[in-house]
Amino acid sequence: MGRIIAIANQKGGVGKTTTAINLSACLAEIGQKVLTIDIDPQGNTTSGLGVDKNATENNVYDLLLGECEIKECIIKTEIDNQYLVASNVNLAGAEIELIGIEEKEYILRKQVSKVADQYDFIIIDCPPSLNMLTVNALTAANTVLVPIQCEYYALEGLSQLIHTIELVQERLNPDLEIEGVVFTMYDARTNLSLQVVENVKGYLHQNIYKTIIPRNVRLAEAPSHGLPINLYDPRSAGAESYRLLAQEVLHKGETEWQ
Ligand SMILES: Nc1ncnc2c1ncn2[C@@H]1O[C@H](COP(=O)(O)OP(=O)(O)O)[C@@H](O)[C@H]1O
Ligand SMILES: [Mg+2]
Repeated sequence: MGRIIAIANQKGGVGKTTTAINLSACLAEIGQKVLTIDIDPQGNTTSGLGVDKNATENNVYDLLLGECEIKECIIKTEIDNQYLVASNVNLAGAEIELIGIEEKEYILRKQVSKVADQYDFIIIDCPPSLNMLTVNALTAANTVLVPIQCEYYALEGLSQLIHTIELVQERLNPDLEIEGVVFTMYDARTNLSLQVVENVKGYLHQNIYKTIIPRNVRLAEAPSHGLPINLYDPRSAGAESYRLLAQEVLHKGETEWQ
């Protein structure tokens, strides 16, 4: 069975999508078969993996509304071992359209379970809110990976996220665990980044990855070329860091958590 990891944090701009794209692609690069599911109406994971978000026959919106089966919306990307369920702006209306639908929290879970044995990893990129889309992702997942941006307000909203995870554990998915916390956009030139890392470590009693993702302009440029960082600039600091993160995720359980 593939490991199903939701990448969640209701704050926008913390590096969820960048992590979804590049963790997926770096796992694929080392021979893991990866299905990435974009469940954010912005569709940036879709375009970042080189797929035209407005040209797919079926996407995650059709899937959630029961208009197709997951097999009908999985796309083989141009990247070896990398598959995708795409998203686009249509998904923004899904939450309202799902009102009154029975067991709507379980739609993604039921669909993902049909293909989970065909992949090593299923990575779900969540939208920047704790809405029904994120709840679907958390209900489908085995674990949640939380990116935290190294900035002053890093801790803001984290207790809300943890509360939501606990509610999902109680009511929808008792086996859900926190995979780990990864720091993103670390700027070695400032003391602030270092302080944030120390603060969060003191506050959060969660697994924290040793790998810290640096602020790296190549990571910001890569999506406009429709490429993950390991293909766009394989020798960049961004590529190196996401490769290390992929190794840590792959060898989960063997890591000594800090
Ligand atoms: N490590 C990084 N270095 C430089 N820019 C980054 C890095 N991580 C993310 N970004 C940029 O920051 C912005 C927000 O990142 P994104 O991954 O889209 O966040 P989220 O999905 O949480 O909203 C994007 O423009 C992205 O390219
Ligand atoms: Mg995003």
